[in-house]
Amino acid sequence: MERIKKIPYGGDYNPEQWPQEVWEEDMRLLALAGIDCVTLNTFSWAALQPEEDRYDFEKLDRIMELAHRNHLRVILATSTAAHPAWMARKYPEVLRVEFSGIKRKFGGRHNSCPSSPVYQKYSRALAGKLAERYGHFDNLIAWHVNNEYGGECYCENCEKAFRVWLREKYGTMEELNRVWNTSFWGHTFYDWDEIVAPDLRSEHFERERTMFQGISLDYRRFFSDALLANYQGEYEEIKRVTPHIPVTTNLMGFYKPLDYFKWAKSMDFVSWDNYPDNGTHPAVIAMNHDLMRGLKGGQPFALMEQTPSVTNWLSYNALKRPGVMRLLSYQAVAHGADTVLFFQMRRTVGACEKYHGAVIDHAGHENTRVFREIQELGMELERLGDRTLGSRVSAKAAMVVDWDNWWALEYSAGPSCDLKYLDEVERYYRAFYEQNIMVDLISVEDSLKPYDLVVFPLLYMVKDGYDQVIRDYVREGGHVITTFFSGIVEDHDLVVLGGYPGHLRDILGIWVEESDALPSGESNGFVWNGKHYPAELLCDLMHLEGAVELASYETDFYQGTPVIACNDFGKGKAWYVGTRSNEEFYRDFVSMAAETAGVESLWAPVEDVEITERRGGEGPRYLFFLNHSREERELTMETECVSLLEDCTYGKGERVRLSGKGVLICRAS
Ligand code: GLA
Ligand code: ZN
Repeated sequence: MERIKKIPYGGDYNPEQWPQEVWEEDMRLLALAGIDCVTLNTFSWAALQPEEDRYDFEKLDRIMELAHRNHLRVILATSTAAHPAWMARKYPEVLRVEFSGIKRKFGGRHNSCPSSPVYQKYSRALAGKLAERYGHFDNLIAWHVNNEYGGECYCENCEKAFRVWLREKYGTMEELNRVWNTSFWGHTFYDWDEIVAPDLRSEHFERERTMFQGISLDYRRFFSDALLANYQGEYEEIKRVTPHIPVTTNLMGFYKPLDYFKWAKSMDFVSWDNYPDNGTHPAVIAMNHDLMRGLKGGQPFALMEQTPSVTNWLSYNALKRPGVMRLLSYQAVAHGADTVLFFQMRRTVGACEKYHGAVIDHAGHENTRVFREIQELGMELERLGDRTLGSRVSAKAAMVVDWDNWWALEYSAGPSCDLKYLDEVERYYRAFYEQNIMVDLISVEDSLKPYDLVVFPLLYMVKDGYDQVIRDYVREGGHVITTFFSGIVEDHDLVVLGGYPGHLRDILGIWVEESDALPSGESNGFVWNGKHYPAELLCDLMHLEGAVELASYETDFYQGTPVIACNDFGKGKAWYVGTRSNEEFYRDFVSMAAETAGVESLWAPVEDVEITERRGGEGPRYLFFLNHSREERELTMETECVSLLEDCTYGKGERVRLSGKGVLICRAS
C-alpha cells in the first residue's frame, strides 16, 4: 500500500449498511473525489458479535480488503458506542439511568453504562479482537475508540463506583464530610454506602442547580473518569497488539461533561467533530479548534468529522453555502488540523440521519453541487501535499481553561444565574481573534512560561498551588488578566476565607468586598482611556491594596470606586477587570494588554478575514487568510508571499483580492 504524503481526506464510511453491489460504485466515486482515507466500523457491534459467545468478522474482513485494494487509508473504529440489543436484554445493567431516575431501555446510542462490568468486559474484548484481526493491515493509520463519549448515568453500578472513587480520593469519612461541608443541612455521612448519586431524586432541583455543589462537582469528575476508564480499557487492549498504531477517540470541542485535558493524556492524538450551528461565529469555531490543539500541548490534531453540506439534528438545517465547506476545512487546518474528514461518505437510506449530508447523496451519482465541491477540495489538497503537515502554531498569548472551574462556577447558586463560563472565555478569545493574535488555550497544568500574556477568564476556582504558579509567572515578568468572580474557591468549591479574590489578592493588589449582580438589561458604566463602556452582569466592589485604578463605576452607591485595576507585581503586571463589558471594551483592553506585554498581531485586521499562522519549527511560515464574508475582501501583503494553492508570488505591498468565502494559503518569505 503506497502512502501518499498529504492531508488525509475522507471520513466515516458505512458500507455495512449497503449491499455489496454498491461498494464498487462507492470506490469509483470516492476516488473521483480525491478521497484517500475512511473511518470504518463505527457502529457495527451487533453485527460483529451477534450472540454473547459468537463473533462474526466476515463482512468487516471484506470491507477491510475493499479499502486496502482501493488504496484507502483506514481509521478503524471499535464500534462500542452502541451495544447490541441482546446485551441489553440479557444484562439490563448495561443500560443507563437518566438524571431523572428513569431506567433506559434498549435504543439510541451512547447508551451504555460505563460502570457496568458486562459493558467493560465486552467492549474491551471487542477492541482486542479487532486489533488482533486487523492490526497487520499496512493501511491502518489509526484506531478510533468508541464514538463521541458523553452523556450521563445515575444507576446503582455508577453509585457504587462513585463511592469507590470517593474513597480513593478522600480516604476517610472525616475528610469527605469536610470537603463537602456536610454539617450544612445535616448531611453528615457515617458510612460510604450512605452516599447516593446527585441527581433529580437527591441533591438537584434542576440540572445545573444543586443543593450541594461539592457532591455534584465530584460526580462530574467521577463520571468523566468513568467514561475515560472505558476508553483506557479499550486503549490497553489495542496497544497490547498494535503498540505502533496511534489511538484516538473523537471529541466535541467545548463539551462540558468531559474533562478533555485529562482525557488527552490518554490519547495518542486529539481528534474532534466540528458541527457549528447555523450562524455560529467563525471565532467560536476557531476557539474550539484552538482548544483541541491545546489539549496536547499544541500538537496537530485531526478533524475527524464535519458535514459536507448539512446536518439533520438542528431545528433548521441550513445548507453550507457554496465555498463554506472548503472554507471551514481550511479553517481547521489553519488552527492545527492535519486531516480533513467528513461524516459521511454515503447518505443513509433510513433512520434519523437520512437527511444528513454526505459525499454521495441519495441521487447516487457525482453530478451534485456538494460532490463537485468535495472533488475540487480533494484536488486542491493533493496539490497542497504534505507542506503544512506537522507544522505548529506558536502563540505568545494564552487563555487558561479548566473543566473543574467550569463545573463549579456554573453549579454555584448565586450571584447570578447568567454567569456562564464560556461566555467570558469567548469574549476574551474574540478580542484576540479580531486582532489576528494567535492564542493557545491551555490547562492549569501547562507552563505559563512560553507566553507573554495570559488571560484567566472567570478563574472562580484557584486550585491548590495554582496561585503560586501565577505569582511566579508575574514576578518573573509575565502579564495576566483576570476577571470578576475569580479566586473565590479552592478545589472542592469551599470558599477561601479572608477576602476575595482569595490567594490572588497580593498578585492583583486588591480586595473585593462585595459583588452586585445586575439583571439582564441593567447596567452601570465606566470611562477608560477616554471612552465610555457599560458594566454588566456582575460588578465587583473592590478596595485597592497596591494596585492602581484604571477606571471607576459611574453610578449607584459604589460610584467612584474602582472597576478595573492594574498591579505592578515583581517584573510583571496583573490586571483585574471587575465587571463584564461590551465587545469594544474587550478588544480595546486586550489590545492594550498585548501591546504592554509585547505580544504582536500577525497582520493588521481586515474585516471578516481570519488570519492565522502555522510554522514548522525554524522552517517556513504558512499564513492562512480565510474570508468569512460573502463579499470580496482586499489584503495588502505585509510581506512577500508564495501562494500554495495558486502557485504564484505576491510582493510586499501588493494588493490581493480574496473572493467571498475565499481562502489563501501562503508561504511567507
Ligand atoms: C456525530 C457522530 C456521527 C454522526 C454525526 C452527525 O458527530 O459522531 O456518528 O451522528 O454526529 O452529525
Ligand atoms: Zn451507570
